[in-house]
Amino acid sequence: MCGIFAYLNYRVPRTRKEIFETLVKGLQRLEYRGYDSAGIAVDGPGKENNGNGKISLFKKQGKVKALEEELYKSGSVDLEAELDTHVGIAHTRWATHGEPSPLNSHPHRSDKNNEFVVIHNGIITNYKELKKYLNSKGYEFESETDTEVIPKLIKYLYDNRENEYVSFSTLVERVIQQLEGAFALVFKSIHFPGEVIATRRGSPLLIGVRSKYQLSTDQIPIQYNCSDYNGGVQKKNIINRADSSNSLHSICDRKAVEFYFASDASAIIEHTNKVIYLEDDDIAAVAEGRLSLHRISRSAGEEPVRVIQTLQMELQQIMKGNFKAFMQKEIFEQPESVFNTMRGRICFDTNKVVLGGLKDHLKEIKRCRRLIIIGCGTSFHAGVATRQILEELTELPVMVELASDFLDRITPVFRDDVCFFISQSGETADTLMALRYCKERGALTVGVTNTVGSSICRETDCGIHINAGPEIGVASTKAYTSQFVSLIMFGLMMSEDRLSLQKRRLEIISGLQRLPELIKEVLSLDDKIKNIADELHHQKSLLVMGRGYNYATCLEGALKIKEITYMHSEGILAGELKHGPLALIDKDMPVIMVIMRDACYTKCQNALQQVVARQGHPIILCSQDDAESAKNAYKSIELPHSVDCLQGILSVIPLQLLSFHLAVLRGYDVDFPRNLAKSVTVE
Ligand code: F6R
Repeated sequence: MCGIFAYLNYRVPRTRKEIFETLVKGLQRLEYRGYDSAGIAVDGPGKENNGNGKISLFKKQGKVKALEEELYKSGSVDLEAELDTHVGIAHTRWATHGEPSPLNSHPHRSDKNNEFVVIHNGIITNYKELKKYLNSKGYEFESETDTEVIPKLIKYLYDNRENEYVSFSTLVERVIQQLEGAFALVFKSIHFPGEVIATRRGSPLLIGVRSKYQLSTDQIPIQYNCSDYNGGVQKKNIINRADSSNSLHSICDRKAVEFYFASDASAIIEHTNKVIYLEDDDIAAVAEGRLSLHRISRSAGEEPVRVIQTLQMELQQIMKGNFKAFMQKEIFEQPESVFNTMRGRICFDTNKVVLGGLKDHLKEIKRCRRLIIIGCGTSFHAGVATRQILEELTELPVMVELASDFLDRITPVFRDDVCFFISQSGETADTLMALRYCKERGALTVGVTNTVGSSICRETDCGIHINAGPEIGVASTKAYTSQFVSLIMFGLMMSEDRLSLQKRRLEIISGLQRLPELIKEVLSLDDKIKNIADELHHQKSLLVMGRGYNYATCLEGALKIKEITYMHSEGILAGELKHGPLALIDKDMPVIMVIMRDACYTKCQNALQQVVARQGHPIILCSQDDAESAKNAYKSIELPHSVDCLQGILSVIPLQLLSFHLAVLRGYDVDFPRNLAKSVTVE
């Protein structure tokens, strides 16, 4: 949902070409968040530092590649000019307000002189009121976006400052007080050369710091514009130049330093592993090479510092390697990603499962009245996939909810509920809103995320990191199987002291131990699956049918197919076949059936008979020893057998592979499906 990236070099001479390269690379890493258009703002075109007080904007509809070509062909800039200190801001857009077009692309500007420029990820819900007000003051708008009110508003505040010295961060502070909605913002201005201001509310933003000198601290104190900091002395205008020289909040002490601002760590990791995650309403200002953090006020219990963290991620983890697409790479990574999810948490000798992030809350969780699992899309499906085994292992009622619907229904939530929030990105707006909703009602909140430092991670009471490694492909694959395994591990941890469940636990734990090997076996069926894709890729529709533990596989498989192949696809509960979907079946309708040797096997055979009786030609995913299903199949894919509740991890993989091959054969860009984005930070 839009990626933002900014780069500031302070006393680190860089040619304009190098700056372009850094910005473009940053955007490419974030491109999975949106790719309707891309743009940058840099100083220029003058040769001198800070470009003679001018800012140039470059924008292009389409992918970052198109912008990159534009930058080098424009010829209007001196690529070899060396800039000792410079701020460049960059954006890749996923259109929400206003169609994809150069005018609607970011950075947006205050006026034709580009006095203030801004990049934004999120949504400004009160933009119409602000626009009306600014229109009445004579400000003219050139785009259809919500974002454009922001640069206009900051210019309005700057123009009306009445002889008072107002710092850049004060202006931004005043701007965000007027904004409603969600945002991560980075500002640049010709009035504050060499300075950058970044802030967020509801959308993610982090800062990377690189210096050849030792950082002078590992945490940055926050300046509050209120009385409870600095010994209760009320400061009138704390955010000004004099304050920003206060050594308390300098981290590099005027030495050469580079700062990177990005929507997520994948754009920063190749430059530095030292990062600061901003919290909602933090305002980060860099002036004269010093980073300072400000907030308007300090709430009770709030830590007055932000810690400089060291990222554990490796660049290699986010590179595509020999694969055609990130999605393909991520599908093939599943033996390791699932192993990493379990690593250090399951002891296969003692059959003990310990999830460090939950152990202090286990007693409370065991006392709860019900578990509510909340997520969107694939993450929701991980809840559907594990609901039955969680009910069995925890002996608690389990509700699985789509975050948006859960909120629409104003679902009753109580203090003795435990609510799980499943999210790969940890930033999905609907899920985050549902989390806040449950927190307000006093429920214990548990995050299940793949992104350390994400909003859901920070705002939940406790949680599980699924440790699947960075997932770049927009279509989620390895995160799903790791979410699945994480929820199963939770069930195992909850049932450790239940004597009656020990046999079942042992069966599942040994199933988990074998899982990485079995996943490899399933992946070895890739060629066979590609042949099936060859046959199906001209079709318009594809039904995926199953029940019980494998119903989630049908939902998830159908979602993968529709999102990257643009074919119509539906996941159908086989038990519902007679209640409507059977009408779709004829000799021409492609149907995939998932039939595994579990408690639903006989019922699935009934469904299979009904499909065959209507001249259907089902492609069947079945167990290796299942001659009965194979006999009735038009084609079959035979999968290794696992414990019933883990079988869904194996049965989903052929559908991940199938959707990938279908998309390639249909000529679509697998990693960048149209109209979608990886991280959906708007409601
Ligand atoms: C589908 C997909 C989406 C996400 C959904 C939630 O392949 O990726 O359906 O699962 O947008 O995203 P997270 O898990 O980041 O909350």
